[in-house]
Amino acid sequence: MVLPVSVRCDRTPAWAALREHFNQTGRHFDLRQAFASDAQRFDRFSQQAPHVFADLSKNLIDASTEALLLELASQCSLSAQRDAMFAGEPINVTEQRQVMHHLLRQPRSATPDQPCARELAAVHDALEAMLAYAEQVRADPVITDVVNIGIGGSDLGPCMAVRALEGLRIAGKRFHFISNVDGHELGSLLLGLRPRSTLFLIASKTFTTAETMTNAHSARRWFEAQLGPGALALLPKHFVALTTNVEAAAQFGITTTFGFWDWIGGRYSLMSAIGLPLAISIGQSAWRELLAGAHAMDEHFRTAPMERNLPVRLGLLDVWYRNFHGMDSRCIAPYHSLLSRWPAYLQQLEMESNGKRVDRQGQALPFETSPVIWGEPGTNGQHAFFQMLHQGTCIIPVEFVAVRQETHGLGGHHEKLLSHVLAQARALMLGRSDAGGHRHFPGNRPSTMLLLEWLDPASLGALIALQEHRVFTSGAIWGINSFDQWGVELGKVMASDLEPRLTTGNVDGLDGSTAGLLARMRR
Ligand code: F6P
Repeated sequence: MVLPVSVRCDRTPAWAALREHFNQTGRHFDLRQAFASDAQRFDRFSQQAPHVFADLSKNLIDASTEALLLELASQCSLSAQRDAMFAGEPINVTEQRQVMHHLLRQPRSATPDQPCARELAAVHDALEAMLAYAEQVRADPVITDVVNIGIGGSDLGPCMAVRALEGLRIAGKRFHFISNVDGHELGSLLLGLRPRSTLFLIASKTFTTAETMTNAHSARRWFEAQLGPGALALLPKHFVALTTNVEAAAQFGITTTFGFWDWIGGRYSLMSAIGLPLAISIGQSAWRELLAGAHAMDEHFRTAPMERNLPVRLGLLDVWYRNFHGMDSRCIAPYHSLLSRWPAYLQQLEMESNGKRVDRQGQALPFETSPVIWGEPGTNGQHAFFQMLHQGTCIIPVEFVAVRQETHGLGGHHEKLLSHVLAQARALMLGRSDAGGHRHFPGNRPSTMLLLEWLDPASLGALIALQEHRVFTSGAIWGINSFDQWGVELGKVMASDLEPRLTTGNVDGLDGSTAGLLARMRR
């Protein structure tokens, strides 16, 4: 298969038709009227996908909007682009890499001629080794604290998921996530740790990231200082690496490494060795359920007809809001405390993937790409920023996540929680016109509801894969490379130039503001 030649989306007839549709009816679309005139609207715009029920009916779309968006997908060769990813084409063109996080959850296949059979075999060998080690740690009563040192994709995914699946956490072990180079994080954690009962997981795809390396070296110095001459012999048991850079890990003095490959992007790496803290926390059978849930969503994305393909529908909705309504942010509101890191996880997934201003050939794009992703769990968000969502001057689509079943067993809470999420979505849509001035709610504010039966490993896996493929969809329409992240490089380079200047005080060649601030910051 060759990479599909993509036509720029804003030059397609479908884009022009969408623009026309927006001008004619889209900009005046009214959700209340839409429900009043179509008794089937909920059924038409909601669907069950693997482990996730989605209600899209409170969005500013009608059947013709979706039909035109699907036409746009077709004219932008979305399915060919998707198939190229699943076939192992090097769709990460700026780094000449394949994009194969889907292989991490693909069952071991009996057919050696399937695409990427060699890589799939490597995935399963690595998985077996990692799970065997996870079970060994779970069975080791001496280890009470597992400290993951990593940042970005080497932190956000496992941190989010360990918290989300807290109910399955093995008894007797605590999990900590250290990401920031700010020593207040590691420093305060170390005060409560004992070296002989602590396992440090140094998680870094590249094993060069400054924050992670600084924290890893400080952790090792602490370990050595605590244990004195005996530390060297114990180091291999207490420091493990999760990385593609086995040599750098060995140079650090680590002998146990769980590897992965350059065709797994950092923000797509939770289900690789980067997920080891989660595997230790929930154990191998729950881990396999997570993979199965994600695989079910992969298959849905790969095979479901476009009009009933949930990641495709969500990704196209994102394009509709971003490029036609001009909405520049999306609020993520999980109504489940254990999903507290879900907004942060999605921030990296979407903004690092699609926060790009050029197409795959490096040509500047004349239209908007990634929105700002932000949010907080409900109901806390209701008492902070929902005021603006209901009555502010800009319209921000909200993506709610609700879970039907609870596991805390406290009577009355869950009904209240669910009534709040229903009420917020309903109030955003209906508004309130029986009062004027400060009490008036304009309504017609869009939202999506993602509903899980349980917050269990399979549902979480499916939810993650859903988001990955939805980001793929909008990125493919925009014609950008969703799998590189050059935008994080410049700051890194400048930080390494500035660090010694904080000691020497040399401000040669710096701009006036940086020079002035640096002089004030020096100690
Ligand atoms: O923030 C940039 C980035 O490269 C992310 O893409 C990545 O997830 C993170 O840094 C951490 O990188 P590594 O896993 O190589 O330490």
